[in-house]
Amino acid sequence: MNSYNIAVIGGDGTGPEVIDEAIKVLNAAAQKFNLKLNYTPYDLGGRRYLRTNEALPDSVVAELGKFPAILLGAIGHPGVKPGILEKGILLRLRFELEQYINLRPVKLYDARFCPLKDKTPDDIDFVVVRENNEGLYTGSGGFVFKGTAHEIAIQESVNTRRGVERCIRFAFDLARRRRNGQPWRGLTPADTAAGKHAQLTLCGKTNVLTYAFDLWERAFHAVGEKDFPTVKRDYAHVDATTMWFVKNPEWFDVIVTDNMFGDIITDLGAMVQGGMGIAAGGNINPHGASMFEPIGGSAPKYTGQGVINPLAAICAGQMMLDFLGETPAARAIESAVIKITREKIKSLAAGKMGHTTSQIGDLVAAAL
Ligand code: IPM
Ligand code: MN
Repeated sequence: MNSYNIAVIGGDGTGPEVIDEAIKVLNAAAQKFNLKLNYTPYDLGGRRYLRTNEALPDSVVAELGKFPAILLGAIGHPGVKPGILEKGILLRLRFELEQYINLRPVKLYDARFCPLKDKTPDDIDFVVVRENNEGLYTGSGGFVFKGTAHEIAIQESVNTRRGVERCIRFAFDLARRRRNGQPWRGLTPADTAAGKHAQLTLCGKTNVLTYAFDLWERAFHAVGEKDFPTVKRDYAHVDATTMWFVKNPEWFDVIVTDNMFGDIITDLGAMVQGGMGIAAGGNINPHGASMFEPIGGSAPKYTGQGVINPLAAICAGQMMLDFLGETPAARAIESAVIKITREKIKSLAAGKMGHTTSQIGDLVAAAL
């Protein structure tokens, strides 16, 4: 029997409620697929910070780094100044545990929940690979003449060849493996004749960010040409990418991009797939502790009412099992989520699902 130790951070706001449902579904899958999941809860987030004045003790980072996977609810508390918990917990864990990939699948499960006219699940099925350790998020920069009329604020985008290349390599590899060798539906006959079966789009801004994205572009073509001949290389500026997410989402297979562009386009991606109620992501260190989370925040106004949609957290659990190598169990969870989404749910939005948070968890667990 395969056994996994999982760290659980419920966190703030609705985080603990949705994590309860994710665990309910994971346990049902574990039973069915004969797995043992051992959970260790960690008390992190706004309440702990307000109590102890410490966001994340060094010793806890070290402990978390020993788990193969971490399941995270949400970080963000109305009583704590914005930035402290986000940087002090979420970004710190992403950086120190070298979770250099932020993987965000954008998949529409039911056409009813797509805000785009005439788009169906056939049109919306792509993955964004967001670089998760560099770019504008490292905290590099500073003030000069702070508080004066001459004040200068500098925020530096850090792009290392190593950091960019490992991210691009992950994205190519994912594109190659994603459909088990089945060709991506967006290829032209000429692409197929040239031996391509997948596409990777580099999303950048080569026309303005002529240092950072020059490096990205060179690394992209060098890695792709040498090691991934079956993956078609495509490029889109980030502004055009947002336009096409709305107009032609079927043009995308796998997208790779830097930290900030990835942050922005994946919120749009989440809306296109039906909203924050369903969008999940993984902070991946392919060789270490990886952390899975619903993309939405702590939703203070819905906390404790049993109205928040737990499907995003359940999907985060599914991504976690997939990462751990338990693909059949992960697939079963996804199928159950699709079934419930199509057959039982009125809306993916908080308070409008036609069920409580816990009933959604029950429905998915029962559909496994
Ligand atoms: C996300 C969030 C975080 C980010 C914030 C909370 C720091 O928006 O996971 O996308 O910017 O990465
Ligand atoms: Mn974000």
